[in-house]
Amino acid sequence: MGKFMHAIQYDSYGEEPSDLKHVEVPLPILSKDEVLIKLEAASLNPFDWKVHKGKLWPLFPRKFPYIPGMDISGEVIEVGQGVRKFKLGDKVVALVNPFSGGGLAEFAVAKESVTASRGLETTASECVGLPVAGLTALQAITKSAGIKLDGSGKRKNILITAASGGVGHYALQLAKLGNTHVTATCGARNIELVKSLGADEVIDYKTPDGAALKSPSGKKYDAVIHCAVDIPWTTFEPNLTMNGKVIDITPSFASLLTFALKKLTFSTKQLVPLIVFPKGKDLQYLTDLVKEGKLKTVIDSKYPLVNTKDGWAKIISGHATGKIIIEF
Ligand SMILES: NC(=O)c1ccc[n+]([C@@H]2O[C@H](COP(=O)([O-])OP(=O)(O)OC[C@H]3O[C@@H](n4cnc5c(N)ncnc54)[C@H](OP(=O)(O)O)[C@@H]3O)[C@@H](O)[C@H]2O)c1
Repeated sequence: MGKFMHAIQYDSYGEEPSDLKHVEVPLPILSKDEVLIKLEAASLNPFDWKVHKGKLWPLFPRKFPYIPGMDISGEVIEVGQGVRKFKLGDKVVALVNPFSGGGLAEFAVAKESVTASRGLETTASECVGLPVAGLTALQAITKSAGIKLDGSGKRKNILITAASGGVGHYALQLAKLGNTHVTATCGARNIELVKSLGADEVIDYKTPDGAALKSPSGKKYDAVIHCAVDIPWTTFEPNLTMNGKVIDITPSFASLLTFALKKLTFSTKQLVPLIVFPKGKDLQYLTDLVKEGKLKTVIDSKYPLVNTKDGWAKIISGHATGKIIIEF
């Protein structure tokens, strides 16, 4: 008889954290290019509740019942025949395949190609926010905004919206590794935290200047890493330099129309939609930054697996400061 594990699962689309069931299910089956991880921590992302609400239908999930959760960290307890980089006992952080799901469980599988070694110098909680939020922040800052993290390159003025959130707090720290001046938006309660993460200027998004995204020193932005939602192009446009771009990590129908329009009219100001690309090399880079003390994870709150519903309600609220962690 096979082994069983505790997991969080839902059977259909829904709205409520109470739809999440605590179940016992068989351990996942390992493929030859995967590692089996005994979890020490998982982290929640807005993606998780969006999938549950059916907002990403028909892509996710592929079938019910579904075990949500993409960010995992723990110890490798089995490796597939084709795995070369990892061995039993390695401490790792990994991105779970969102099509199959499986991150909110005692054991989960991940492809070797999206697994990174975190060594013994870091804890699972310090690294588990990196797969979705960290990778998104890194790819927005480096690939889309063109910031070099070794500090070389022309100085750029950057705006980060929702710099207190999961993606935003990583984006802010990464941007400050480059040659940048960073303006950040957040709520009043997080201004000191966001300054402590390196922001040169911080604006409260609930004030008129904050809502207008105006830099206190009057700077125009070369790039905006847009981690908040529902801010129209007309608010960004007057704050951009001639070649300024807005990197939108929550592309909506309206922003996709703006993207197309700006391209078609050869506008020098651009909107760039971004979807995170699962890349192990980037994940290892971020994990190494954590090891070196150059990147830290702000933890909003921690919950044991049995209380996942409480963490789920918090991520739905849209008011997390940093990352919400599930501990095993
Ligand atoms: N494209 C991709 O591949 C990708 C990857 C990851 C995430 N995303 C998306 O990116 C978005 C952000 O994700 P996340 O994990 O960072 O979310 P999150 O952690 O839930 O963000 C919460 C934070 O945002 C702040 N906030 C909310 N509205 C704001 C506003 N108008 N101005 C400034 N701050 C505001 C909140 O502050 P208060 O509590 O003070 O309100 C809170 O600290 C989500 O829509 C997510 O789905 C996309």
